[in-house]
Amino acid sequence: MATVKTRSTAKSSNGRHESTPVPKVKQTKLLIGGKWVPARSGKTFATYNPATEEKIADVAEADAADVDLAVKAARKAFDDGPWRRMDARDRGRLLNRLADLVEANLEELAALETLDNGKPIRDSRAADLPLAVDCLRYYAGWADKIHGDTIPVRGNYFCYTRREPLGVAGQIIPWNFPLLMVAWKWGPALAAGCTIVMKPAEQTPLSCLRIAELAMEAGFPDGVINVVPGYGPTAGAALVKHPGVDKIAFTGSTETAQHIMRDAAATLKRTTFELGGKSPNIVFADASQDAAIQGSEFGLFFNQGQCCCAGSRLYVEQSIHDDFVDRLVKRAKGRKLGNPFEASTTQGPQVDQDQFDKIMHYIDSGKTAGASLLTGGKRHGKQGYFVQPTVFTDVQDDMAIAREEIFGPVLCVMPFRSIDEVIQRANDTNYGLAAAVWTRDVSKAHRIAESVRAGTVWVNCYDVFDAAAPFGGFKQSGIGRELGEVALANYTELKTVTVNLNS
Ligand code: NAI
Ligand code: MG
Repeated sequence: MATVKTRSTAKSSNGRHESTPVPKVKQTKLLIGGKWVPARSGKTFATYNPATEEKIADVAEADAADVDLAVKAARKAFDDGPWRRMDARDRGRLLNRLADLVEANLEELAALETLDNGKPIRDSRAADLPLAVDCLRYYAGWADKIHGDTIPVRGNYFCYTRREPLGVAGQIIPWNFPLLMVAWKWGPALAAGCTIVMKPAEQTPLSCLRIAELAMEAGFPDGVINVVPGYGPTAGAALVKHPGVDKIAFTGSTETAQHIMRDAAATLKRTTFELGGKSPNIVFADASQDAAIQGSEFGLFFNQGQCCCAGSRLYVEQSIHDDFVDRLVKRAKGRKLGNPFEASTTQGPQVDQDQFDKIMHYIDSGKTAGASLLTGGKRHGKQGYFVQPTVFTDVQDDMAIAREEIFGPVLCVMPFRSIDEVIQRANDTNYGLAAAVWTRDVSKAHRIAESVRAGTVWVNCYDVFDAAAPFGGFKQSGIGRELGEVALANYTELKTVTVNLNS
């Protein structure tokens, strides 16, 4: 997400913008125990192209019966399979092989992501796919570096710790970065030696199924990776409740996380959550204006605003507010909406009708509450779930548009006068995923970085992600961290061994 740039292939030799061909869908079944199978019920569900609202494919729909089979396969692969006896370094080699295969099939996977999610092909190519490859490689390198300590205990004992794989990991992911979320979840779980049952989002199952095919090609043993597309209340809930699952890793809405936490309590599963946000993006008058404007546009509108860390509360210092807003509105108007397969498109459709309706509802609520709509606010075109880039000013902190996650291309700009004031307002939220500050004053930057209660703070940049840098939320934005070395702890149990040296 850090470096979204158009590839050199974006224009053909005659200078016209190229359109990437729509890819073929190769896999629509469930992956259970190394085999591609239909759902036990025979049911399927349709996945749609959000740019055209047309059906792309029917995908096997897992429910509790299929999830049970998948968990049993993952259990067997964990308890009896070759996976745990394999040298850690060979687990790393498999992860590297998968990364190589994803890279070799980058164009196809990027196009599949654009087809199923609607995101511009330039973003799938330049952000989602390279970041996913990098994440898999990063965790491949960790596979043989997960180890315990020797502990100097009292007495004549030898005490050491082991970091053992946690077991079967249930992983439930959303639709905004379908393939990247697979990489974030599989990387640390596989490096640690866990087995996996993954439920992709019902809106976007296709890239997950395709990467699972590549994982089989890479040579992961049967049952190590299982994929069960389906709906949340059926397939997702069955995974959360299953006694054979040791851990649930979830990315999605705070509301669904609360549900999962309750469901997971019965079997006391380990849980990690990466949830929503209402991230403050703070621009001081002394910042580089060009960089701050570009960063503020990117921080909110990237991925159609469908980012958990979207900089949706933009606080601009009073003295530059009006000019900043003018320039930002110009940039918002300059965004190119349309066919996401066109190389020049910078904004695609929202993922589905539900998300479209939710965003429109928030836009109405902003207007009703008295905020000023400076640009956008309407549907773009007649087909597809496109929402115009939308900018509100005269937004009060207590309006719904300033407090709730909209998850769309709707930016709220608010002026501030002092650093103390903006810190207080930035923290006046139940969320705490990310924040950003734009300033040339190093002490202001550090003051914000230490005072804002959020899991990530960007200084003079936005959405800079790296597989090595932990990511996750304070407060109701999540529990635990993904990425980096710390994420390995999500997939290991710590064992203490004490040996009597007297005998
Ligand atoms: P959601 O949280 O309901 O869905 C995410 C995943 O959870 C999907 O795979 C879904 O099938 C599954 N799920 C749903 N209910 C479940 C249950 N009871 N048990 C187990 N799994 C369940 O999010 P949804 O409905 O797609 O979007 C609603 C809002 O959530 C969005 O408008 C946005 O505000 C937020 N969201 C935040 C994301 C993030 O990256 N933090 C990603 C997606 C949505
Ligand atoms: Mg939902």
